[in-house]
Amino acid sequence: ASSSTLVKNSTNHNAIHQPVTQRSILLSSTNNYLSNPLVTRLCRATSTHSIWNETALPDKIKTLDEYKAIYALSIKDPNRFWKMAAECLDWYQFPTKIKNTEFDYRTSRGVDIKWYEDGIINVCYNCLDRHIHHDHSIAQQVALIFEPDTPTESRHHITYAELLRDVKKFANVLKKHGVKKGDRVTLYMPMVIEACVAMLACARIGAVHSVIFGGFSPNNIAERISGCDSTVIITTDFGVRGGKSSPLKTKIDQALALKQCSNVKTVLVFERNHGMTELKDDCSHLRKTLEWTDGRDFWVHKEMETVNDKCEPERMNAEDPLFILYTSGSTGTPKGIVHTTGGYLTYTSLTFKYSFDYNPGDVYMCTADIGWITGHSYVVYGPLANRATTVIFEGIPTYPDVSRYWNIIDKHEVNIFYTAPTAIRSLMQHDDAYVTKTNRQSLRILGSVGEPINPEAWKWYHSVVGDNRCPIIDTWWQTETGGIMISPIPNAWELEPGSATFPFFGIQTQLFDQTTKKPLKPPNHGELCIADSWPGQARSLYRNHERFVDVYFKTYPGYYFTGDGCEIKPNGYHWITGRVDDVLVISGHNIGTAEVEAALEEHTSVTEAAVVGYPDPKKNQGMYCFVTLKGNVKPSEELRKELIRSVRDSIGAHVYPDVIHFTSNLPKTRSGKIMRRILRKIVEPDTSNLGDTSTLNDPTIVEELIKNSPRTK
Ligand code: PRX
Repeated sequence: ASSSTLVKNSTNHNAIHQPVTQRSILLSSTNNYLSNPLVTRLCRATSTHSIWNETALPDKIKTLDEYKAIYALSIKDPNRFWKMAAECLDWYQFPTKIKNTEFDYRTSRGVDIKWYEDGIINVCYNCLDRHIHHDHSIAQQVALIFEPDTPTESRHHITYAELLRDVKKFANVLKKHGVKKGDRVTLYMPMVIEACVAMLACARIGAVHSVIFGGFSPNNIAERISGCDSTVIITTDFGVRGGKSSPLKTKIDQALALKQCSNVKTVLVFERNHGMTELKDDCSHLRKTLEWTDGRDFWVHKEMETVNDKCEPERMNAEDPLFILYTSGSTGTPKGIVHTTGGYLTYTSLTFKYSFDYNPGDVYMCTADIGWITGHSYVVYGPLANRATTVIFEGIPTYPDVSRYWNIIDKHEVNIFYTAPTAIRSLMQHDDAYVTKTNRQSLRILGSVGEPINPEAWKWYHSVVGDNRCPIIDTWWQTETGGIMISPIPNAWELEPGSATFPFFGIQTQLFDQTTKKPLKPPNHGELCIADSWPGQARSLYRNHERFVDVYFKTYPGYYFTGDGCEIKPNGYHWITGRVDDVLVISGHNIGTAEVEAALEEHTSVTEAAVVGYPDPKKNQGMYCFVTLKGNVKPSEELRKELIRSVRDSIGAHVYPDVIHFTSNLPKTRSGKIMRRILRKIVEPDTSNLGDTSTLNDPTIVEELIKNSPRTK
């Protein structure tokens, strides 16, 4: 099949983009934009006709009224709205069925989510080929700018044509090694262009990628490889971050030595320094220690010489899986979140376009690692589907010094910058001169994701980094949601520091009371649910639909439960207040307390562990571990360090217990269930109102824990 047969349905693909009018952002929390601004009423708020012609989605959303009009339609007629959204992509067969979803597990159908189910599309084609097909000059447009860990290291930018060529060749390498449509391929990669090449190559041939964050340990890698039955692994010989190299291939070797990975047949290894001549450190020490299993391990640069650069995209059904991404849950093993093809791309593409107000020619940079959902949706798929030029940054914000982000912004004239509150909070500790000595005039929009951004960090980001000029786009969403769910649209309405403002098109938020499980009418504070499906949402957990339904759809029947708390203010603004379950969000990383407990309990000295979070001004949350020890094992500083080490070895270096509290016992109900509510209160610390402790097996333990906790001293 020739890709020239693709139908282009979009009427506004090449529309002239209007210049953006900048206006200053007023920081007022008392403004009342809407006479009746509650989101549930947005639908009825405005007559759509005077604002918008309703035949195709506009290129930009310029005003709150325009947002309200389109939002109203997206809720009233999701089929029509999401059909228009899909028209922004190129399909082999445009879908005739748009939405076919069921959220209520109690129905005979059960939870079942399908979007564009008879549509045929290829994600890689939409991210690369089609731009060149529609306009040959795009071949020469830079797709990815690689910014290496060491700023002086020379590297080339890669154009759309070059990226497409590399993707096709690597897709052929995958095919040569037997990878077929539907096969799972695991990636363990640093932030390098090759990670994008590998993801897009999988998408091109219909293989399902599963990217594992480069910080994870061999145990966790093995769990994720065997969890999705991958037989092919893609990695690099090593990665470099903050001036230190990390032996990725060696970690893969260690993971593959574990029994559960015995099915892995092939390891494809990119060479981090391929083609580079002037390197300060060629990491030859790492190369010397690299072990090689003949017949299993292959250098990608050598394999690329054996294939040609012709590779037609596979025609994928919109509901074929695109990728699996593991995320921590409140219990048990990590969840293999499954995202599919047509809906995911439609959603990430549209959210990228509106939330970041991308204009052709803009340089966009997102600092998220490719191993997390933000890296998938807003480093790779969303930007490339919008023909963006994206900076891929290999390093960390503090190397060689804390001006690094701002220097990169100047070097590549970045217009849109998207990062996490953790990075902002760590950088604002230092003298503002590290920021103000740089120019940053290119910046137009600043984004935030991953955790609640506290107003202090928001204001610093806005005034010091953005010179009071750039709107802060605080985007709330999750691995499971695929793309941005609540966020401002730049310059369309006023911002309030710490609020993600309004839901994206098609997203109906609903608050519930945690105790009564009854719906709450805003303004209110409660547990955040979403009332109806959107195309970007996860369809299931890999081979475990039952757990998917249990975790997300049983707490509030008929609704998707986010696990987050939220306050909706009288003006309709949404304020995310953090997790309400046992998932910690530390420095932008999701960490399941159950995983840390399991890691602690693996230690021979430990009987039981209970892990809870506490508020931390820098990292969002700190990790507090209560640990009971076996028989006559005595607590010691040595043991404390050992436990921290074993957690990091077991899960990954990004997981760090802040407090290990040795105790003789834990507060438990008579049936043996640990009362986490009480532990959370102790470490918060908020011991004035511990609630009912009478059901505890041994109520005296609470006093003892309070007395010995470093948080209450
Ligand atoms: O608690 C919320 C927090 O991060 C969780 C999702 O984490 P993850 O699946 O790793 O995805 C992170 C990137 C999308 C959410 O349940 N979170 C994410 N963004 C925000 C946030 N909390 C408050 N404000 C945000 N903007």
